[in-house]
Amino acid sequence: MHHMMLLSVHTTADGSEEGVGLMKGLILSGGKGTRLYPLTYTRAKQLIPVANKPILFRVIEAIRDAGITEIGIVIGDTGPEIQEAVGDGSRWGATITYIPQEAPLGLAHAVKISRDFLGDDRFVMFLGDNVIQGGIHRLISDFDRHHEWNSQIVLTRVDHPEQYGVAKLTSDGRIERLIEKPKEPPSDLALVGIYMFDHHIFEAAEAIKPSWRGELEITDAIQWLVDHGYTVFPYVHKGWWIDTGAPDDMLEANSKVLEEVEPEVRGFVDEHSEIDSRVTIQEGAEIINSTIRGPAIIGEHTRIVNSYIGPFTSIYHHVLIENCEIDRSIVLEHSVMRDIGIRVQDSLIGRHALVQKSEYRPRALKLKLGDHSKIGLT
Ligand code: TTP
Repeated sequence: MHHMMLLSVHTTADGSEEGVGLMKGLILSGGKGTRLYPLTYTRAKQLIPVANKPILFRVIEAIRDAGITEIGIVIGDTGPEIQEAVGDGSRWGATITYIPQEAPLGLAHAVKISRDFLGDDRFVMFLGDNVIQGGIHRLISDFDRHHEWNSQIVLTRVDHPEQYGVAKLTSDGRIERLIEKPKEPPSDLALVGIYMFDHHIFEAAEAIKPSWRGELEITDAIQWLVDHGYTVFPYVHKGWWIDTGAPDDMLEANSKVLEEVEPEVRGFVDEHSEIDSRVTIQEGAEIINSTIRGPAIIGEHTRIVNSYIGPFTSIYHHVLIENCEIDRSIVLEHSVMRDIGIRVQDSLIGRHALVQKSEYRPRALKLKLGDHSKIGLT
């Protein structure tokens, strides 16, 4: 049985925060991450840290904070690495079930293979590489309260709707149509990577066919629900939301999250250094004769010596930065950057990278770069 409820566009309700009964969480953490090569050749993109915490951990926390503790994670080739990093979920007071996907055959395919885990329970599906401002407890409690809704999808207003999946609403505010990257967008409401469903989504996922790119598309499955008279409601998210698919999105997400981190100084800062009020220095880090402008975060056991770290920068654990200027960048663990005679900006530096001035002539760039590396010189 499905009901047709005619309400206006559902924006933020004053949702309460009580625990959510029977809902489950499903995080999609398979995929290839090709747009983040070379970083994601050797690491799952969901484990790349934003403000020094892996995106996937932020997703787990958002779901847990909404009162959901039974969480399934769909994994692909990078599964072992994800399982090792996340474990059984007890760290978050959650129970985690891993669901292997043989290949990234689409978001609706990921739902389909999660049937045993989900059973007939209502659930929230969250893309493991998305970051959203302000958590999801309001929309979860909304969906929990409205059992007559078969699905709720999250939308947000964007400047270039032609680059997203876009929703066309009926005059009374339900979803009428979802269109992937429309040339002439019917609205500026883009689909955010968070969806809520009841068990009818399995019927939809079984019924649809793969798209031109060979994937079972979640937009097609939702369209199937709409076309078959099920109730799909939009929730218009007002804060920021970032899909970290590409390097620039990763830097953008890092900047946004850094602005919300509660600053804390646990490491050592010597008397010749100057740090801003919005700077976090993690355990065992050392700041020697350096300036750090916030918002920024310096990871555990990282050393910053004779350097300038500019705003919107995250330096992860066990890094050495000496005689450098770094701005709006992410540097991952165990990397070394030393004596670089030019400011490093808008950069994403992987693990165990070494960037330093060469002592030997001729004065030239001497590069040993992995496949698909990108260097910007001006
Ligand atoms: P995408 O960013 O659409 O795909 P991708 O991770 O393969 O990246 P790229 O386009 O750079 O190659 O995926 C969104 C999220 O969903 C991401 O966390 C990976 C996950 N995912 C699955 O778990 N299974 C799938 O079949 C697909 C397509 C994605």
